[in-house]
Amino acid sequence: MVGIDKPLLLDLPESFETERLIIRAPKAGDGAVLNAAIAESRERLMPWLSWARQVQTPADTEEIVRGAAARWQQREDLWMLMFRKSDGLCLGRTGLHQLDWTVGCFEIGYWVRTSAEGQGYVSEAVNGVTDYAFSKINAARVEIRCDSLNKPSAGVAQRAGYTLEGTLRRNVLSPDGSELRDTLLFAMLRTEWQDKADA
Ligand SMILES: CC(C)(COP(=O)(O)OP(=O)(O)OC[C@H]1O[C@@H](n2cnc3c(N)ncnc32)[C@H](O)[C@@H]1OP(=O)(O)O)[C@@H](O)C(=O)NCCC(=O)NCCS
Repeated sequence: MVGIDKPLLLDLPESFETERLIIRAPKAGDGAVLNAAIAESRERLMPWLSWARQVQTPADTEEIVRGAAARWQQREDLWMLMFRKSDGLCLGRTGLHQLDWTVGCFEIGYWVRTSAEGQGYVSEAVNGVTDYAFSKINAARVEIRCDSLNKPSAGVAQRAGYTLEGTLRRNVLSPDGSELRDTLLFAMLRTEWQDKADA
């Protein structure tokens, strides 16, 4: 079967675990902890993520979280928050976006709070979200896109075993709107994910 015919009828797991992380759908009340992670990380997020240019109050983040929780229920976007198992700290966000249920094509996004960078949490999360996409929502293809200048982000895709399919030239505006940037397009196909699991 290709894709998912009626995504609203899918009983999706809203939480799963990896070795060091709990990864779950957003829910009311997450705004404060997510806001703290954003506030700590704005300098690192702003060059790559346009939404980070806007300062958020905890109430702003709570409103955004509640919207994301509603979009999860509508199967419009599968935002996920990352929490560290050892102390419950919210480490940032990942999830599946640009959901094409008919084709079974989804895009993974991610950012991590600055104090938790360089410890492999994002690679661990991306491996978990990749497994989720192929095993729970019948993905045929999962993509990761990042600015060609964003080496840490490209490193995550490479470590997770995604294939660089090409460079989209001058296809997005930089977050500050000052110039056009190139995007690296990485993807993993279902067969490649199966081969990886069998290896
Ligand atoms: C892009 C971003 C998520 C990458 O975060 P990260 O912490 O470098 O990624 P990982 O969690 O996979 O960690 C990898 C690093 O930890 C190291 N590491 C330590 N322990 C590790 C482990 N157990 N497993 C894997 N890597 C480990 C790796 O060697 C690597 O270090 P290096 O970059 O010096 O080679 C982060 O820089 C970020 O949030 N940037 C701002 C937002 C952003 O750009 N988002 C992406 C938009 S497309």
